[in-house]
Amino acid sequence: MKIAQLGQPVLRQVAEPVPPEALDSPAFRELIEAMVQTLEEAGGVGLAAPQVFVSQRLFLACINPPREEGVREVEVFINPRLTERSVEREPGWEGCLSFPELQVLVPRHRRIALEFLDLAGRQRTLQLEGFPARIIQHEYDHLEGILTLDRAASTRDIVKASEMEAVLSERGEIGDIPSE
Ligand code: NI
Repeated sequence: MKIAQLGQPVLRQVAEPVPPEALDSPAFRELIEAMVQTLEEAGGVGLAAPQVFVSQRLFLACINPPREEGVREVEVFINPRLTERSVEREPGWEGCLSFPELQVLVPRHRRIALEFLDLAGRQRTLQLEGFPARIIQHEYDHLEGILTLDRAASTRDIVKASEMEAVLSERGEIGDIPSE
């Protein structure tokens, strides 16, 4: 699928809830399959439906470390809700498949809890912290039409991906920056 790039209005819309009856439809299964393939091809750790021009409350995220080398587990989050957010926040560099040329330093809640439906339509809850919590907050923002650029504390925290090495050595940080 084509990934919507920065400037596309769909990235700025508040997405609509997925109707629960849609989960059983072949069209929905096909959408998920196509999104998983798109995420794999792009080599990212997350992909929200609005990024593939589908304004629905649904995203994919790889929040578990791979069990075997090269095999990642892609999880599907449908109609997610963030139910808890820690007061404590921490900054981290984030990429986005909708503007892979840029990296943005984004403060995120260190810990979150979320509720969502899985592919089988089961209500699930998760508590996450650190990097997995960051991925979920990034993808959740896509459902609200919010991008990392909006969350930068300063425009100085927006840099070209190609210059990251220079930026990190200047700031005395080490980075491993995946795309979301
Ligand atoms: Ni993104």
